[in-house]
Amino acid sequence: MCGIVGYIGTAEAAPLLLEGLRRLEYRGYDSAGVTVCANGSLDTRKMAGKIVDLEQAIGGDLPQGTLGIAHTRWATHGAPTATNAHPHHNGADDIAVVHNGIIENAGVLRQKLEELGHELRSETDTEVLAHLIDEAYDDNLEEAVAAALQQVEGTYGIAVVSSRDPEKLVAARNGSPLLLGIGDHSLFVASDAAAVVEHTRDVVYLDDGELAVLDREGYRTSDLRGSPLTKEVSRVSWDLGTIERGGFPHYMLKEIFEQPDSVRDTMRGRLLVEQGTARLGGLSSCLPSQDIAKYNRIVLTACGTSWHAALIGEYMLEEFARIPVETEYASEFRYRDPVLDERSLVIALSQSGETADTLAAIREAKEKGARVVSIVNVVGSSIARAADCGVYIHAGPEIGVASTKAFTSQVVALALITLYLSTQSEPLQEQATVAKALQQLPDQIGQILARNEEIRGMAERYHLNKNFLYLGRGYNFPVALEGALKLKEISYIHAEGYPAAEMKHGPIALIDENMPVVFIAPQGRVYQKILSNVEEVKARGGRVIAITTEGNGELDRLADHIVTVPTTHEMLQPVLTVIPLQLLAYHIAVLRGCHVDQPRNLAKSVTVE
Ligand code: AGP
Repeated sequence: MCGIVGYIGTAEAAPLLLEGLRRLEYRGYDSAGVTVCANGSLDTRKMAGKIVDLEQAIGGDLPQGTLGIAHTRWATHGAPTATNAHPHHNGADDIAVVHNGIIENAGVLRQKLEELGHELRSETDTEVLAHLIDEAYDDNLEEAVAAALQQVEGTYGIAVVSSRDPEKLVAARNGSPLLLGIGDHSLFVASDAAAVVEHTRDVVYLDDGELAVLDREGYRTSDLRGSPLTKEVSRVSWDLGTIERGGFPHYMLKEIFEQPDSVRDTMRGRLLVEQGTARLGGLSSCLPSQDIAKYNRIVLTACGTSWHAALIGEYMLEEFARIPVETEYASEFRYRDPVLDERSLVIALSQSGETADTLAAIREAKEKGARVVSIVNVVGSSIARAADCGVYIHAGPEIGVASTKAFTSQVVALALITLYLSTQSEPLQEQATVAKALQQLPDQIGQILARNEEIRGMAERYHLNKNFLYLGRGYNFPVALEGALKLKEISYIHAEGYPAAEMKHGPIALIDENMPVVFIAPQGRVYQKILSNVEEVKARGGRVIAITTEGNGELDRLADHIVTVPTTHEMLQPVLTVIPLQLLAYHIAVLRGCHVDQPRNLAKSVTVE
């Protein structure tokens, strides 16, 4: 869950590597380092803290040379210190390694190396790799790297340089994302395209068990046994501008305000309003809509915010496709020996497409013969390539660690899939109503975003509170979970989401005048029920913030604050009701002085289990 970047070319490496790290910082930001290989030696600079701290420490004294590697870290083994920061060296300081992933047998390997006389300086699993390569080194770097990796158990994306083989960068992948950037007279290695898109949009995605050698003549790829591989060069669809903040103070706010466009892009060329259905080319290869009858069970699996979107998908698919649906936390699902077979359809959701737990759940499902479909944002990512087929949500790069636009696009993609799969089931009229409502969403989101200042005012009232409760029913129960998660992860306030009726079974004991309770209460089938839940909270002195539909004055007498959203079809309400919750969390975090785009202890994609 770290960020790796490497460069070999004609330009000075250090400025390019530091800029690449800045673009990858959302992947991990507790320590960083860079190594440049030149004049027969390695010049390594590393420290705890953010990239800006490393740049300040280096100042004008940049390491010189046109070959190097760099790393920004999310600590798994060993605290975020300068010693544990990457790159890591061997004893002779002539091999440097950066690594993203976990070496599961590092303990055994470390012991073996120490028995051979190696002295390891850090607490990390990664340093073991530098010493293993040293131990295996014979004639050239790539063979030593390959030999070392064949002793390793676990996940890795690595880049290696050595002053013993000073015109070469070696990279390899198993379980952690890694791509090559193919430029003019420049070659890059990176954890994702954000680090290279300023220089090239031509990339090669490495797969598990693959190794690449980059030198002054070009690049070549092989498996770990040295058998050559021919890899396709893909073109990244977005450019640098897309990953700039574009005048917004934070990526999170920019991405919240991009939602009218990102939701529109998710539906582009797919929504068939008149027919009340959707055209999903990405599914036609492995899940033609009429095949749905083959399946007696749908399992949605994901983590975090994607899991909340999946839960909404469960409600949609059960209501319209009339098939039993379950939503599973990927991390639990994969170890639970789930009952799956060829009549099971597994749908995996992931913004990054690199979440290790979700990837492992996919592998588990495929081993059991299930059909696996993915709903992913990052094109070419591991989950997209591991699934039998899938739907890209086209929300564009999401840099803010707190997921926002990916969530609304995931819910819209699930609505499209529901229309696509329920062409066989009645009432068809309902599908046409949903299709029309989908079309109106982008403008309706725009109307809510126009209330940003009002919501910021509300945040001023509550940003010092220590606890929050979020309550919803039906389609809006997962929105309560998502609202609570957004507040937790960026403002560090303890918050919980619940099905509103669950309150009476315990959590209502928490209610007093210091407990803000956010009700997601748009009009609909369960509105009257949630109204009585609001009454129960008010009766115990709770502060009520209500998200409801325009024109509903009933809550005026009960709620302390009301934010209204436009009316839409019940199954699409989450796309609208979540927006005020994203903004509320954002403004509360800003008012508390939190680092909104890089919240403590988190990273954008969780590539380790
Ligand atoms: C959400 O704001 C968090 N960043 C996190 O919960 C995230 O949703 C989770 O890690 C899953 O990530 P994915 O969608 O990239 O798989």
